[in-house]
Amino acid sequence: MEKRYLRDIEVSKVGMGCMAFSHGYGKIPPESYSIEAIRNAYEHGCTFFDTAEVYSPNLSGIGHNERIVGKALKDVRDNTVIATKLFLSSAEARRAGSVYKAVRNHLIDSMSRLQTDMVDLYYLHRTGSVSVEEVADAMGRLIDEGMIRGWGLSQVDTDVIDRAQRVTPLAAVQNIYSMVERDSEYSVIPYCMEHNIGFVPFSPIASGLLSGKITTETKFETNDDVRTWVPQLSKRNIAGNQPIVDLLKEYAALKNATPAQISLAWMLKKYPNVVPIPGSKNKERIVENLNASYVELSDEEFRNLESSLNQLKVYGHRGFNR
Ligand SMILES: NC(=O)c1ccc[n+]([C@@H]2O[C@H](COP(=O)([O-])OP(=O)(O)OC[C@H]3O[C@@H](n4cnc5c(N)ncnc54)[C@H](OP(=O)(O)O)[C@@H]3O)[C@@H](O)[C@H]2O)c1
Repeated sequence: MEKRYLRDIEVSKVGMGCMAFSHGYGKIPPESYSIEAIRNAYEHGCTFFDTAEVYSPNLSGIGHNERIVGKALKDVRDNTVIATKLFLSSAEARRAGSVYKAVRNHLIDSMSRLQTDMVDLYYLHRTGSVSVEEVADAMGRLIDEGMIRGWGLSQVDTDVIDRAQRVTPLAAVQNIYSMVERDSEYSVIPYCMEHNIGFVPFSPIASGLLSGKITTETKFETNDDVRTWVPQLSKRNIAGNQPIVDLLKEYAALKNATPAQISLAWMLKKYPNVVPIPGSKNKERIVENLNASYVELSDEEFRNLESSLNQLKVYGHRGFNR
């Protein structure tokens, strides 16, 4: 698969979000299946894997997902890029003695679960009470120590990125981004392009909506399933967003691809610094999503798709707050 860069970190053009093996989309598969699915993705050219310390069933407990990723990739670790994330409060930083010490403690725990002595990309999962400049400074020290290769922020707007970037240049920003969540187009992605920062869209298939497999009759699970609150997936908004799904189906037929692939090919064509991390619990669909990297929209196809999309109203908006 073609490569892209998150600053100086080389990754496959499409990465893989591993969250759903632990959290967020209902029942989780047996661990052996999850490990096999991650290894299968690697064998299909994926070198970029996204996890976080908090990805555990019902977000209770720490490290379920990191352990799975660690087991799956330990034999091919040198050929892969692992991204993980931490949460940090100012109270915890005070208890640890400094932001740097607190971040380092989280990192050491993640490295142990991931069975690695270095994390390629370390994100602050959400900014909160802790100063982003102090986190940036801590990340710079961890880069100097060789414990991480690069760092990033998630769900942030340009002013926060800029404050952090002035202290320690970022490798990546991970925000929600898809055909139905386009806030980052206004200034975040342009800022990232200008400053050589990779942009990593999460929920790029809008939690399944853009695959065209979700209908108003689809029943989501009741336990630990984000689809029960994702705004575009209420019954009324699924119906409202049908024209966007129909547009994707039209291009899918034209390109001999699937709607999910077209939605990914659209963002890959649009921006050279974008590396989406679609998530799935299903081995075959993971490969389908990776193969979006081979779906090339011509300039004209892209322009027409974009202009049709711009004329359609999006029903539901999640934004940066959740
Ligand atoms: N930084 C953050 O705060 C944050 C927040 C959320 C997620 N993330 C990261 O982003 C990754 C991706 O986000 P996400 O999983 O929320 O959203 P997503 O990739 O937009 O969608 C995942 C959903 O779409 C379905 N799906 C995926 N590909 C499909 C296909 N080809 N055909 C049919 N259905 C398909 C999946 O179902 P099946 O499992 O049944 O295939 C799942 O229900 C996560 O794994 C995680 O690593 C980060």
